[in-house]
Amino acid sequence: MVCKGEYQMSENGVDTSKRWFLTKTASVVGATGAVLAAFPFISSMQPSEKAQAAGAPVEVDISKLETGQMIRVMWRGKPVWIVQRTKESLDSLAKLEPKLRDPKSEESEQPEPAKNEYRSYKPEILVALGVCTHLGCAPTYRPEVAPADLGPEWLGGFFCPCHGSSFDLAGRVYKGVPAPRNLDIPPHQYLNDTRLLIGENA
Ligand code: FES
Repeated sequence: MVCKGEYQMSENGVDTSKRWFLTKTASVVGATGAVLAAFPFISSMQPSEKAQAAGAPVEVDISKLETGQMIRVMWRGKPVWIVQRTKESLDSLAKLEPKLRDPKSEESEQPEPAKNEYRSYKPEILVALGVCTHLGCAPTYRPEVAPADLGPEWLGGFFCPCHGSSFDLAGRVYKGVPAPRNLDIPPHQYLNDTRLLIGENA
């Protein structure tokens, strides 16, 4: 179980919590390697610890992020996920609406430009705070469709093992789970096509 304060991230920012990376084909292993190579660069862009504690924005290079992958960075001591979603996962979001507590994100936290069906500025890129809205555990990234442990209706999303809350790939919470609202979308902006600034809206 991953509890508050024990966010499961390796030094280079890769999500180490899922089998998904271990079961991909050789071509995707190559792609993962490309992302791994990017992380020292990501680290170098982090502001100083003192600046981070004060809530300084964090600049991230997402040029190596591949479809289906997620990277994580820390902002204000909390993980921020950056996920490049597949076309299939974007197409599945509308189908899930009847199962969600707040499908239109009317009671959720997000910058105004991200208040849309994808909860993002660009449809394919999700930027979300990786903190469960129940008691603050760190959900795991589960992009697989119908894995054995989550059932045949699972279309990919985030699962919090602490008390079983589940969220879709837009961070929208399912009905009937302990988490009361969708995952928060932090302030952020695109500096250009491949650089994000987490912590500050445009
Ligand atoms: S903290 Fe996530 S379900 Fe309780």
